[in-house]
Amino acid sequence: MPNSIKGPFIVTGASGQLGGQVIEALLEEGAEPLVAVTRSPEKLEALRARGVEIRAGDFNDPATLGPCFAGGGRLLIISTDDLAPGKRFAAHRNAISAAKEAGVSHIVYTSLTNPDEVNPIGFARDHRETEASIKDTGISHTILRNCLYADLLLMNGPQAVGAGALYSAAGDGKAGYVTRADCARAAAAALFTETGSSVRDITGPAAVGQADIAAILSEATGKEIPYVPITRDALVAAMVGNGLPEFMADVFSSFDVAIAEGCLNVASGDVEELTGQKGQSVRDFLLANKAVLIGQG
Ligand SMILES: NC(=O)c1ccc[n+]([C@@H]2O[C@H](COP(=O)([O-])OP(=O)(O)OC[C@H]3O[C@@H](n4cnc5c(N)ncnc54)[C@H](OP(=O)(O)O)[C@@H]3O)[C@@H](O)[C@H]2O)c1
Repeated sequence: MPNSIKGPFIVTGASGQLGGQVIEALLEEGAEPLVAVTRSPEKLEALRARGVEIRAGDFNDPATLGPCFAGGGRLLIISTDDLAPGKRFAAHRNAISAAKEAGVSHIVYTSLTNPDEVNPIGFARDHRETEASIKDTGISHTILRNCLYADLLLMNGPQAVGAGALYSAAGDGKAGYVTRADCARAAAAALFTETGSSVRDITGPAAVGQADIAAILSEATGKEIPYVPITRDALVAAMVGNGLPEFMADVFSSFDVAIAEGCLNVASGDVEELTGQKGQSVRDFLLANKAVLIGQG
């Protein structure tokens, strides 16, 4: 169906993993004009050759943002990756101000599942404040509350396979893990087609617990990998013992606490509603990435 929504379609964070996949999805849809904003334009020369306009911009340098959003259009703000509390919001606020100034007509933002006061994730407040700031502009918007990436399981999955057990401080909690690829397709669809203002829960088709994940790892590897619940302190100590700086161990362990407390136990149909295709389950995703889990990927 031809799309009557006018661009340009502007994607920030374009050299990141999610940004790159969003741009591929938009190119596939024929979204144009398409603008990629990044701190590292030199990384995106190949996209320029495919007709994407590349603009250099850094949310921490407001002077760069006016030219990035000049002329307005529809804007996807990909949240930055700063783990220090408050840093993301400070950066996002610059992007939102510049968007308003430039007359952007719709903002899509990659937020977090349930970013309310009780969410223990270290940077939940940054997402909460960014959402509020976007609402305050009066510009129509789509908030995409992305749950934890299933892709993160490709980082701790091989560790669990190597250790012979999946250790986590998530208790019996569940999370609506969603693949980065599904987040990208949902963001592209929102940027290309959404009207009005809404908050969408971008999750996998079902929330899963650590025991479920351990069972999938066992199935994928043919080795019995039990789930062993541990405390947050024990998890932080193990991460620090493996060389992770303490503040990062603190942030990463807060994901487990959020799962244990039920903050990420959400499964919605929003990926399918936006993209027309059901999100990939954790089981299908992990089985498709068996080689990574056994250290051969
Ligand atoms: N749901 C989850 O489980 C999960 C996991 C990891 C991350 N995230 C969030 O989702 C975002 C995208 O994920 P990803 O997998 O694509 O992460 P990634 O590959 O690490 O990319 C980081 C992104 O942050 C952007 N960025 C960092 N500092 C910036 C700044 N000062 N100004 C503008 N952009 C800045 C980068 O853009 P350029 O380098 O192109 O400028 C890049 O797009 C992350 O940044 C983070 O907020 C979510």
